[in-house]
Amino acid sequence: MNKVTLNIDGKEVEAEEGKTILEAARVVGIHIPTLCYNEKLAPYGACRFCTVEVTKNGRSKLVVSCVYQVEDGLVVKTATPKVIKTRKMILELMLGSAPALKELAKEYGIEKPRFKSEVTQCILCGQCVRYCAEVKGANALTFVGRGVNRRVAFVNEVVSKGVCMDCRQCYGVCPTGKIPRETDGAYFGGNLVSDVLAKSKHK
Ligand code: FES
Repeated sequence: MNKVTLNIDGKEVEAEEGKTILEAARVVGIHIPTLCYNEKLAPYGACRFCTVEVTKNGRSKLVVSCVYQVEDGLVVKTATPKVIKTRKMILELMLGSAPALKELAKEYGIEKPRFKSEVTQCILCGQCVRYCAEVKGANALTFVGRGVNRRVAFVNEVVSKGVCMDCRQCYGVCPTGKIPRETDGAYFGGNLVSDVLAKSKHK
């Protein structure tokens, strides 16, 4: 595999072609915050919280580091004012719906979110859906709806076969704690999970 050399926060970094900026940064101990990234899953690029600023041939732009691949001669800055502003904006948009992000908000100096959100605590990172499909091969979770109505739902036909009873690994990958909370008997994405499980002959 060919290697390329790039510069991340002033550090010369060698990385294999095809690796992402996030992967290259992690190898040398440079921290880039993420929300929807999970190294066990295919890159997704949904939350954009891992945004960094890259410069090549004198031109700068913001890119999503968990999907943007390394290039020879690329200069990457992980915390420029533009990057921090972008991450703050993303956090503020999510905060109204995800109290679990409060620690991150404190780190970015956000005391009160400017935006109100009517959506659920789910930030649509898709880790639960992708983990269930890619790692477990169960496909018990899916996205439903569009735009502001988009949410994650359990697939009744799959859940009712009992595949979720002994697994529940989606609990661990959910960054906001939405799934563990909601499966305590509340609606989750339109399906009352406790009802679905109660109807399961495997209960
Ligand atoms: S962690 Fe990169 S887009 Fe979510």
